[in-house]
Amino acid sequence: MKHFLDINTTDPADLRSIIDSALARKQARAGRPKGMPDDDLALEGRMVALIFEKPSTRTRVSFDVGVRQMGGQTMVLSGKEMQLGHGETIADTARVLSRYVDLIMIRTFEEAVLLELAEFADVPVINGLTDRSHPCQIMADILTFEEHRGPIAGKKVVWSGDGNNVCASFLHAAGQFGFDLTFTGPQVLDPEDVFVGEARRKGAQITIERDPFKAVEGADLVVTDTWLSMHDSQSAQERRHNLLRPYQVNEELMKAAGPEALFMHCLPAHRGEEATSAVMDGPQSVIFDEAENRLHVQKAIMRWCLAG
Ligand code: CP
Repeated sequence: MKHFLDINTTDPADLRSIIDSALARKQARAGRPKGMPDDDLALEGRMVALIFEKPSTRTRVSFDVGVRQMGGQTMVLSGKEMQLGHGETIADTARVLSRYVDLIMIRTFEEAVLLELAEFADVPVINGLTDRSHPCQIMADILTFEEHRGPIAGKKVVWSGDGNNVCASFLHAAGQFGFDLTFTGPQVLDPEDVFVGEARRKGAQITIERDPFKAVEGADLVVTDTWLSMHDSQSAQERRHNLLRPYQVNEELMKAAGPEALFMHCLPAHRGEEATSAVMDGPQSVIFDEAENRLHVQKAIMRWCLAG
């Protein structure tokens, strides 16, 4: 069973093949209408369940469009309207869904839900975000970086802000793709030691630097994310804003990074908080390429899951 649960648990050769296949197939489709199917209809006759326990725009639409382009069908399910975890065990939902669908994508809160679903499903399961990671997003980010700047191996990525689930997947990717990552943010929002330690053991240079201006020196890519993630309590908002304000990505910080540094944000963004509109809409920003590449990379992930 080829689940796509996290970047650190997927073989580096498979990750590379997914990125390369996404790029080749994106180029092959260039200029075609979005609703036009691919030539080879890799998911023809396949049914894909897309389960959302949290809101989504990009993940929901890009998976749905991707399945349709590959000739498959989707059903989009809201966790609230299912028995998942409250009316029955996750394991029983996994066993039942496996009798109806060929592939499951889930966006959920606890990583344990994803892992239990994968353990008991007889079909591949894809992680569409948990509180601990967001691997599809970072695969899209790597594809985006490489389209603009070539191989990411050996490059310097700077994460500015909250060491959250998206940052965790960047750390996973640093270990698997061989790039260096500098985290700059307040100590209380550092990424978990387990993510930093694993990336270092795999040979990536991981640096923690409290001064954002020092951190971005020589950066090839500057990344940030919202100051309040979907799983954070609203009551933490003021405290987090005060902690994270010095790590805003603005024109001054991008100037310190240099003109060659790209800017990424997985979106949705709170403009004027973690990043200014001048940066988001500026010449170094590739945020909408990132969003588009969710489609291409997830199609490659689904192909990989269902191949062999
Ligand atoms: N970046 C991302 O996952 O976006 P959505 O929450 O809109 O799916």
